[in-house]
Amino acid sequence: MTTPPVATDLGEAARLRYQLAEHLAAAGHVRTPAADHALRTVPRHVFAPEVSLEAAYANDIVATRHAPDGQVISSISAPWLQADMLEAARIQPGHHVLEIGSGGYNAALIAELAGPTGHVTTLDIDPAVTERATHFLAETGYDGVRVVTADAEHLPARLIPDGGFDAIVVTVDTWDLPWIGALAEGGRLIAPLRLHGYHWAIGFTKDHGALLSDEPLIVCGFVAMQGDGAWNTNRRTVPGTGVHLSWEDGTPLPVDQLAPALTRQPTVTRTDITVGGQEPFDALMLYLAGALPGFCRLEVDLEINKRVLNPPPQHWPGAAIVRGASLARLAHERIGDGDDGKGRYEFVVHGYGTQGHVAAQEMAEQVKYWQRNHRGARCPRITAYPAAGRAPADTDHQPQVFAKKHTRITLDWPIVPNSTGSRSTG
Ligand SMILES: C[S@@+](CC[C@H](N)C(=O)[O-])C[C@H]1O[C@@H](n2cnc3c(N)ncnc32)[C@H](O)[C@@H]1O
Repeated sequence: MTTPPVATDLGEAARLRYQLAEHLAAAGHVRTPAADHALRTVPRHVFAPEVSLEAAYANDIVATRHAPDGQVISSISAPWLQADMLEAARIQPGHHVLEIGSGGYNAALIAELAGPTGHVTTLDIDPAVTERATHFLAETGYDGVRVVTADAEHLPARLIPDGGFDAIVVTVDTWDLPWIGALAEGGRLIAPLRLHGYHWAIGFTKDHGALLSDEPLIVCGFVAMQGDGAWNTNRRTVPGTGVHLSWEDGTPLPVDQLAPALTRQPTVTRTDITVGGQEPFDALMLYLAGALPGFCRLEVDLEINKRVLNPPPQHWPGAAIVRGASLARLAHERIGDGDDGKGRYEFVVHGYGTQGHVAAQEMAEQVKYWQRNHRGARCPRITAYPAAGRAPADTDHQPQVFAKKHTRITLDWPIVPNSTGSRSTG
């Protein structure tokens, strides 16, 4: 149980809290006076008694619960991400808000935003988490927050207000979005969604029964979903190679036949597309995941495999495609120091097996297509339709489709011609 903070701690806590709020505003994570007020008001350290005041107000997660194997299963999320997600939720006074995944702190921030006329429900599968959240919310004066123990995969109907929630904030990694029916038309849903293993926090508005993304996506990581909505990574190991392939979306393919291919030197297909050493390329990985049939993510156990995939993938897990007994994987080669001295790399595709060079060519073409048409766009527009509903009307261009259990998720990549990162332009 928490030791009540002593008076001197309170002064120091408030100083650190204001410092954090200022930092988050300066970095663009806090953009409204309401969010700024909430962050300056809610005493984060009371929800994190296991760490020092400095750690409670650092811009980092606080792990609060571990599985027997040491894995973090509950945490107070990083303040910058909480601020980004709360801003994206556009919570107004009087709103009915559902938080999925509890801890107490974020629910208290939501309660500040929804005000005395609002209604906040926070839900967690783990009774130890809800017990703790209930205790800290009462201690900090946010006892109006309704705390519920349940698996979010089966949201109890009694929790849903007439007309649905105005906002749902999901604070646990989720493979699917089974909550469209619980959201009011025009309401906001913010969720860290897994698409082929890539995690993006996405802000959606409900429009005619579907969820439309309308803000830049945020690359993020959250603790794993438990219960009936836990995802299956469909991880397969190529015998004797230490190479693992995962299909989180789409149908897993057989892998045993790949073993001979992975013991030989690969072909190398160049793309002439370059990237800086500090430049993220998450959008390319997501684009390839949606564009290439048979897409999977490749990891190598370096204890077993020091030689087969040489050089080993530098970004884990890497993008790969399987074509029968052949495989291609994305790699990148250093081609210089870059203007900032952090290195400049060219995307290359390694092909394994008799048809590996063909698969590599196919992947390289998609890298070039992304470069020509989509690199200038930070992220795709994402739409989630209820799986049971009608299929969306045909559009002029074909969106990428991820078929989930409860939803059908489409990605539309805006056409934004871009020449940066092409080798010929330096
Ligand atoms: C990152 S923590 C939540 C952080 C919290 N919102 C805060 O104040 O920062 C994620 C939580 O999701 C919960 N969770 C995991 N699977 C769940 C499920 N199926 N239904 C509800 N909660 C779940 C975990 O028990 C964990 O406490």
